[in-house]
Amino acid sequence: MVLVKLRPATWEEMTCEEMQVSENPHRYRAIAPRAPEGQFRLDQVAPGTRTIELDLGFGRGRSLFARAEQEPGAHLVGIEVKTKWAFKVDQRRRELGIERIAVYCGDAREILSRAEPEGCVDRVFIHFPDPWWKKRHGKRKLVSAPFLDTLGRLVRSGGEIFFQTDVESRAEEYAALVSAHSLFDTSRDCFLDENPFGLLSNREVRAHADGLPVYRVLARRRSIS
Ligand SMILES: C[S@@+](CC[C@H](N)C(=O)[O-])C[C@H]1O[C@@H](n2cnc3c(N)ncnc32)[C@H](O)[C@@H]1O
Repeated sequence: MVLVKLRPATWEEMTCEEMQVSENPHRYRAIAPRAPEGQFRLDQVAPGTRTIELDLGFGRGRSLFARAEQEPGAHLVGIEVKTKWAFKVDQRRRELGIERIAVYCGDAREILSRAEPEGCVDRVFIHFPDPWWKKRHGKRKLVSAPFLDTLGRLVRSGGEIFFQTDVESRAEEYAALVSAHSLFDTSRDCFLDENPFGLLSNREVRAHADGLPVYRVLARRRSIS
């Protein structure tokens, strides 16, 4: 049994850490939306849309819905490992009738390792990832060199990966990883003062309210020679 920790914030404004549930944590496991099994095509989840964007670890989903509103031509695939948030966000998507958003529950690293075709993704958003601080939890980290290999396969030439975090050392780590990766270029735009997309994730709302700095890294997929 986990205790409820409530804060005076709306559903959209709360961050993933802020609400711990008193419900059985296994409750959503069976009903959370899943990615297709085996190899699957990201470009066939909603055929006919012009661009494909990913929101990895979307938590309570504010950034996913904000982006859908901002980019009516985009097909958005959100992947979240927490069953409760994946279920709730997909439930909201169904209530709103937004077919351009696909929600998958699971580890983005595993799901995207099975995704095809190469070069089909235009943009990847990773807002405030890796809320793991203990050394033994290092293997849980989403952003790593092998995961950049996966993204490098899926993102088209000129496509973008956008990371944000309120932890400076993490931002430096992400910048170093993408700078060292042969498929990504960060030379012009690496650290950004402003969010160029003008959309807020739940965690970014909280970071601003708490007066925390936000560090942003934008990387571009190099052309395939
Ligand atoms: C600090 S929260 C940020 C949530 C949201 N992006 C935001 O900015 O409000 C990090 C989120 O990433 C999710 N996450 C962590 N590792 C993941 C993985 N490998 N695959 C999918 N989601 C992951 C966590 O469950 C959590 O919801």
